[in-house]
Amino acid sequence: MILPIYAFGQPVLRKPTEEIEDNSDELQQLIDDMFETMYESNGIGLAAPQIGKALRLFILDGSEIENIKPEGFKEVFINPQIEDEFGIKWEFEEGCLSIPDIRANVIRHAELKINYLDRDFKEHTKTFDGMAARIIQHEYDHIEGILFTDRIAPLKRSMLKRRLESISKGRVNVGYKMKFPNR
Ligand code: NI
Repeated sequence: MILPIYAFGQPVLRKPTEEIEDNSDELQQLIDDMFETMYESNGIGLAAPQIGKALRLFILDGSEIENIKPEGFKEVFINPQIEDEFGIKWEFEEGCLSIPDIRANVIRHAELKINYLDRDFKEHTKTFDGMAARIIQHEYDHIEGILFTDRIAPLKRSMLKRRLESISKGRVNVGYKMKFPNR
């Protein structure tokens, strides 16, 4: 089932998220729905708060990204904890399904170490770099209540203020289903 994506300004995007206690049919259905929703909106990552659930869960599919390591990288992250971020810092232009039509450069570490459960509740501790790390950092921020626009240069942020306000009022054309505040 395709779910509406919660837009910038929705309180759930800033809400503290809860750990997922048990695997269940409901959780597996939610994960399937999140993949369907992400593909429908041509996204490469989606976090639970973006579909209105304050849970420590995000998914990603970077298999269409050239030279991503590991190749064909697609994964579900349940109760993830970033244990360390390291390596050089690099700038990359990010976007977000909750903030349509806005892209901006964000500086982040190139590498990270993360502990998480996959969709079978199998525990992993892995290191990632490059685009895989970048997508994980962006999605992990979502479950911490942080949006990429919080991390951009102050001048750029003030330039985007009006456009962000427009999104929170639903004044934006989007090719996928969204849920705007107070609507
Ligand atoms: Ni996002």
